[in-house]
Amino acid sequence: MSETSMIQKIQEAAAYIRKETGTQPQIGLILGSGLGVLADLIENPVVVDYAHIPHFPVSTVEGHAGELVVGTIQGKQVLVMKGRFHAYEGYGAETVSFPVRVMKELGVQTLIVTNAAGGINTSFKVGDLMVISDHLNLTFRNPLIGPNDSALGVRFPDMSEAYSKRLRKLAHEVAASQDFQLQEGVYVGLLGPNYETPAEIRMLRTLGGDSVGMSTVPEVIVARHAGIEVLGFSCISNMAAGILDQPLSHDEVMETTEQVKPKFLKLVLGIIAAL
Ligand code: 6GU
Repeated sequence: MSETSMIQKIQEAAAYIRKETGTQPQIGLILGSGLGVLADLIENPVVVDYAHIPHFPVSTVEGHAGELVVGTIQGKQVLVMKGRFHAYEGYGAETVSFPVRVMKELGVQTLIVTNAAGGINTSFKVGDLMVISDHLNLTFRNPLIGPNDSALGVRFPDMSEAYSKRLRKLAHEVAASQDFQLQEGVYVGLLGPNYETPAEIRMLRTLGGDSVGMSTVPEVIVARHAGIEVLGFSCISNMAAGILDQPLSHDEVMETTEQVKPKFLKLVLGIIAAL
C-alpha cells in the first residue's frame, strides 16, 4: 500500500461502507475464529462483503466469513468484522490492520478484539476467557513502519496502556455479575501458521506470556496509533504445546470456541450495554 494514497484508500473504503449501511458506528468488533456468531445478534443488520469494499483484502481461512455486519446491539451502533486478516496468509501488517483505519474514519471510538488462543499459563483451563492486559509483539513486524502521516497518528505512539484499564475493569465487573471467572493476562502475538514447539512455549512463559495466537497485535497497534480505546479477549481454545500430552489442531480450536460461545456472547453483550 503506497503511503501517498493511504488516506485516500481509507476514505474510499469508509465512503462505500457509509453508503451501504447509512450508520455511524461507535463500537468496532473484530471477531476471531468461530466467534463470528456475535454478528447474528445484531439488530437491523446490514451485511457488507469484504470483496465489495474498495481496497479491502479478502480472508482465506476456514471459519472466517469475510464480511462486515453493521447495526445495533443493546441500542449501540456497532460494526462487526466477521473474519480478519492474518500475516500468515501473506498480508503485510499494514494490510491486516487496514480495516481498523477504516473503522476510525467511520467514527469508531472503542474497539473490542477477540481471538482464539493457546493457553501458556498452566493455571488456565481450556474454555477459559482471558481479558488481555497487555501484549508481546513477537511478530517482528509493525503496521506503522514507513513515513508517518500525522493525520493518522503520532510517529511514536505510547503503548503504556494499549488495553484500556477502564474497559478491563468493566469487563471484570460484567463477568462477576454473570458469575464466572474471567482470567487476565498477556497475549503473545506470533506470525504462525504453525503452532509453537514446547521449547518455544516454555520461552514465552518465561517472557511473561499467558496466551498465544497469530492475530490481534497489528490491529491493536493501529487502533492505539489512531487513538481508539481497546478491549481484548482471548478464548483459550486449547493449551499450548507441551502442557498436555496431546497434539494441537485447528479442529480443537473450533470445537472449544463453539462450546464457549454462549459465555462469550453474554460477556460481550453485557459490556456493550455498559459502554
Ligand atoms: Cl497454541 N498457538 C498459536 N500461535 N495460535 C493459537 C494457538 C496456539 N491456539 C489457538 N491459536
